[in-house]
Amino acid sequence: MRAFDHYEVGFDIPAKPGMTEAEIQTPCLLLDLDALERNIRKMGAYAKTHGMRHRVHGKMHRSVDIAKLQIALGGAYGVCCQKVSEAEVFARGGIADILLSNQVRDPLKIDRLARLPLLGAALSVCVDDLANVAELSEAAVRHGTELDVLVEIECGARRCGVTTPEVAVEIARAVRAAPGLRFGGIQAYQGSAQHLQTEAERREKIDFAAGRARDTIAALTAAGIDCPLVTGGGTGTYPLETQSGVYTELQCGSYAFMDADYGRVLDGDGARLDAGAWENAFFVLTSVMSHVDPGQAIVDAGLKAHATDSGLPLVWGRPDLAYVACSDEHGTVIDPENSLAINARLRLVPGHCDPTANLHDWYVGVRQGVVEALWPVSARGRGF
Ligand SMILES: Cc1ncc(COP(=O)(O)O)c(C=O)c1O
Repeated sequence: MRAFDHYEVGFDIPAKPGMTEAEIQTPCLLLDLDALERNIRKMGAYAKTHGMRHRVHGKMHRSVDIAKLQIALGGAYGVCCQKVSEAEVFARGGIADILLSNQVRDPLKIDRLARLPLLGAALSVCVDDLANVAELSEAAVRHGTELDVLVEIECGARRCGVTTPEVAVEIARAVRAAPGLRFGGIQAYQGSAQHLQTEAERREKIDFAAGRARDTIAALTAAGIDCPLVTGGGTGTYPLETQSGVYTELQCGSYAFMDADYGRVLDGDGARLDAGAWENAFFVLTSVMSHVDPGQAIVDAGLKAHATDSGLPLVWGRPDLAYVACSDEHGTVIDPENSLAINARLRLVPGHCDPTANLHDWYVGVRQGVVEALWPVSARGRGF
């Protein structure tokens, strides 16, 4: 069958199951399903072996299908997300436990958040300001729901979080006294440690974060308040949170996909994270569309197909090629041997997986080069 016999009038998705990788329309997101499943099982096994709960970060993929795979294959407890609109998508998609690992202050957003348990999802949210407790409580009472509240503690990144154990205790007390709220524990996520290149640098940051968490637990205990959960950790640091003995839950997200920036991070033995620890499962598939000058090819994936905040993409499996520049719709690939014919497909490993996923409507899942799954980027563009 010719490739175009697959198509119908109005066909506007990049591929259909059964197509080969060479037939997929580009630029689009490509998932190597075997690699994705291995990453998911590996992190699941790690969490289980080390007695940690894993609430995977869904802000990375914004996909209900992938969250369900992480729960089914990796034993994930639920998902984290950063925005109310993401939480709505995951709740409607049937995810039973959702942590909004962020602060929610806008009254309308608080109202939407407080409705979500009506869809059957257990909902937790972070708080770092006493006034937010009454706001959440009023909304939960209005809708007859219950929310778990985690006190977020500042642990080095100066992003969000209370800066003293005393304030954490004050907020926890208020939560326990507030109708419609339960005190769920603390969040101690250190975001600025994740991409530091050496494990020694990351360890210093996580030792500090764990110390802050320890001090907070001690203050809560002294006030007669049990702390049922300490959550945090990402792909760059999760072994360190685990070793600290303080954290009980991990929030890793990028491990499932990997990207070029995380690939450059080194593990405790000095090996790159993409050289064994985690496989590249996430690509932007691109096609060669022009040759203007010898020794280079122009491909159809530019700024609208991949995020460049963490650098340009790598060309997967082709160390002889280098993606060196891009504009909105075009990318320049140096090809010293002029090996790339028009329509040749290349897998690009984007610099940063989260914002790249958010640029597309579909994931095209392939197994051994044949399309098996088409999954929507369910919460694409949900930033409110
Ligand atoms: C609160 C929180 N937890 C966990 C993560 C997951 O990090 P990663 O994708 O690096 O594993 C992030 C990512 O930014 C985050 O903001």
